[in-house]
Amino acid sequence: MKKVKKAIIPAAGLGTRFLPATKAMPKEMLPIVNKPTIQYIVEEAVESGIEDIIIVTGKGKRAIEDHFDHAFELEINLVEKGKLKLLEEVRRPSSVDIHYIRQKEPKGLGHAVWCARRFIGDEPFAVLLGDDIVTGDTPCLKQLINQYEMLQCSVIGVQPVSDQETNRYGIIDPIGKDGRLYQVNNFVEKPAPGMAPSNLAIMGRYVLTPEIFNYLSLQEQGAGGEIQLTDAIQKLNQYQNVYAYHFDGIRYDVGEKLGYILTTLDFAIRNGELRIPLLKALEEILSRESMQKVIG
Ligand code: G1P
Repeated sequence: MKKVKKAIIPAAGLGTRFLPATKAMPKEMLPIVNKPTIQYIVEEAVESGIEDIIIVTGKGKRAIEDHFDHAFELEINLVEKGKLKLLEEVRRPSSVDIHYIRQKEPKGLGHAVWCARRFIGDEPFAVLLGDDIVTGDTPCLKQLINQYEMLQCSVIGVQPVSDQETNRYGIIDPIGKDGRLYQVNNFVEKPAPGMAPSNLAIMGRYVLTPEIFNYLSLQEQGAGGEIQLTDAIQKLNQYQNVYAYHFDGIRYDVGEKLGYILTTLDFAIRNGELRIPLLKALEEILSRESMQKVIG
């Protein structure tokens, strides 16, 4: 059995939802407390047993490469000042070997994954999207890899969303269920409002067999005129079973403003140093708000 050792992290998107913050900075470098979002994703991959990571980048994404590289001057400075705990934090991202490839045209998620095909070769692999951060006892990707090892088939991570949100995601049409595992009839990318076959949404974690590249290489355009990974998964599903797995864990949407703010708040509240002063400040903000309502 071939093990899942490689992962693709697509990071070529323009980050338009966060403009102008992302004019000169990749959205993947926006911090949640003190770590860029992409570092959470890389750490999940490593904790799930991934040995080789390729990040698909685009124009203006150099800061990502710098972040996962050594920073000699900074490190020497921290050594001289005896800030050893901070030094460890600064060094941690550079302890992983990361490869990079550029997506030369913004043709969609399916195209970004296809750009890494030579790096993957003939092995099963993982895809982790940076807009979703998942926390829990077992890393989300590890849960999918465990399923892959039993089934020897592609496994896609899903979680339920509300009826109003189904048009923002890839949605599955399940035909059978065994615990948290679903057999899937159809994978639909961003169904029109009211047309979703279920509420189970694809949440940015995939374990795929290399046969997916047969379908991605067709380069067929789907929703929004883009080459969609979900469409290729549906084609693969007609040739070999693709399962969906309702993973355990809290999923944070850091790909849009409100989700990003809520994630930051939640992570800060769980941070020993920030918890008490933050809760106090929040109480003050809330009471100021309700006072204003009364006056208004
Ligand atoms: C992508 C996928 C979609 C998935 C979503 C999860 O969409 O195409 O199937 O549900 O990520 O975040 P995007 O958010 O890039 O439009």
